[in-house]
Amino acid sequence: MRHTRIVVTRYGGPEVLRVLEEACPEPGLGQVRVKVHAAGVSLPDVLARQGIHPETPVPPFTPGWDLVGEVDRLGPGVSGFERGQVVAAMPISGAYAEFVCLPQGELVPVPPGLDAAEAVSLVLNYITAYQMLHRSAKVQPGQRALVHGAAGGVGTALLQLGRLAGLELYGTCSERGAPAVSGLGATPIDYRRQDAVAEVLRLSGGGVDAVFDPIGGSHLWASRGALRPGGKVVGYGLATSLRGEGLTSSRPGRRQRFRGTAAFGLYILGGWLLPGRRRVVPYSIQTLKRLKPDWFREDLAALLNLLAQGRIRPLIAHRLPLAEARRAQELLEQGGVVGKIVLVCGPSPGVVK
Ligand SMILES: NC(=O)c1ccc[n+]([C@@H]2O[C@H](COP(=O)([O-])OP(=O)(O)OC[C@H]3O[C@@H](n4cnc5c(N)ncnc54)[C@H](OP(=O)(O)O)[C@@H]3O)[C@@H](O)[C@H]2O)c1
Repeated sequence: MRHTRIVVTRYGGPEVLRVLEEACPEPGLGQVRVKVHAAGVSLPDVLARQGIHPETPVPPFTPGWDLVGEVDRLGPGVSGFERGQVVAAMPISGAYAEFVCLPQGELVPVPPGLDAAEAVSLVLNYITAYQMLHRSAKVQPGQRALVHGAAGGVGTALLQLGRLAGLELYGTCSERGAPAVSGLGATPIDYRRQDAVAEVLRLSGGGVDAVFDPIGGSHLWASRGALRPGGKVVGYGLATSLRGEGLTSSRPGRRQRFRGTAAFGLYILGGWLLPGRRRVVPYSIQTLKRLKPDWFREDLAALLNLLAQGRIRPLIAHRLPLAEARRAQELLEQGGVVGKIVLVCGPSPGVVK
């Protein structure tokens, strides 16, 4: 049997993505072959393609952090799964494919009847949002929070989950994202036209309890200015600092990565040492998953339940066929995308039984 897989042939722009037809992979010892129904498209995929994300594999590689699909074949020694069972996983790379072989421990069961594109949005974006809210910032009902990049994949997840947690929310976005941000119950702030920190201080009357910042670099330190005493900036992206120079090259951006991480370290230290009890803390889904794999499974199960109960509704910006991975990444890079872009496989992707 043959299948389709997307390959990053070398670090670079969207043109380095190729559609490859090849023999289906066979599951090894302890592995399960998953027939992919939906694979998420995210900025970390784009940053990996450019060679600047900390989790970047060496080319050629298949991108794709997260997937939802069905169990297709069990490798030797696998138990507890059956053919046709719906599962989710976060392999970090490899999800842009029709079939993927993964260690059985990586798979989390998905309740039946969920939309595959909505379910896959939970794996990277909603777990990131959920863990930052409840494990990093430890928010309480009635508190206030500022969400940067509020119309994006993680941003919209933060708004939905923040509202469920009883927060009053402010969200930075460009003009195009404002209706989505207010539709999710937050006050939109146009970061291109307004000084977001000054605006939040004015609206909140003294600052917020938490800021969620995917921008990184000096933006992190500026975000600290929006906090009330005792508040926290949760930094979870280094896009700006990583892009400081030479975005694409033949080598992974180790130098940019080092600079971004070093600056982050200084901000964390500054938050502890300077008066005012305004902290900067880092969040990384992959680091926390490695340190606390049980939390990942627990939090994903909780989110899948919230989706099954209709209490959260991921925004899907586009559903594109797998072979259009290049267009999907181009759309994401152009900006202005509201919600998640998802690659769907098979003739009738959507609801998985
Ligand atoms: N640490 C972790 O574990 C983790 C996990 C997941 C994602 N991430 C990171 O989170 C970030 C967001 O990922 P995503 O998939 O949600 O991306 P996305 O869907 O593209 O969303 C990014 C959003 O940021 C907005 N934006 C860009 N510059 C901004 C600025 N200066 N101020 C405010 N908003 C701005 C964009 O809005 P416009 O296009 O309208 O400008 C866009 O809506 C990425 O850096 C990614 O690497 C980290």
